[in-house]
Amino acid sequence: MTNDSRHWVFGYGSLIYKVDFPYVRRSMASIRGWERRFWQGSHDHRGTPESPGRVLTLVPSSPDQVCLGMAYLIEHEVFEHLDHREKNGYERRKVRIRLHDADATVGGLTYFAGRNNPAWLGPADIADIARHINHSHGPSGSNRDYLLDLARSLRGLGADDTHVFELERKVLALGNC
Ligand code: SIN
Repeated sequence: MTNDSRHWVFGYGSLIYKVDFPYVRRSMASIRGWERRFWQGSHDHRGTPESPGRVLTLVPSSPDQVCLGMAYLIEHEVFEHLDHREKNGYERRKVRIRLHDADATVGGLTYFAGRNNPAWLGPADIADIARHINHSHGPSGSNRDYLLDLARSLRGLGADDTHVFELERKVLALGNC
């Protein structure tokens, strides 16, 4: 299914809906033991160094927690683009990925931003995160669109994500600014 020059990459955030890279195959997919949180700062996409946005990272959760996303089988050289895109605090981390289309589990990588990276923001009150997202903008667009596009995509995948959907509700209630 894969060889040394090809890798599975699990996307849980913008990699689900902004597919600006070539891939050989893709599948709805999931990983276990991790959940999405808007705890990572964005200086280069949905905010600026002076006014960072808030984007996703993964945080450890219970082993039976399933995080739904998309997996892409890519050629090795595509990492050049992805590493640049995800350069603001993310590092590649090994994960076991369940490919829903193939009903198989494969080894792969995901972009993970840990608490020691310089752009880390960490937890905050959910209403504060919603306000922060609602007013942030960066070179890739509004932080609000990052959240709303993600929520739409997750709904399309049939994902149940309390953190994301609660933020979506709060941001919609705040209105576009
Ligand atoms: C991902 O999408 O998997 C990484 C985080 C992001 O770029 O939103």
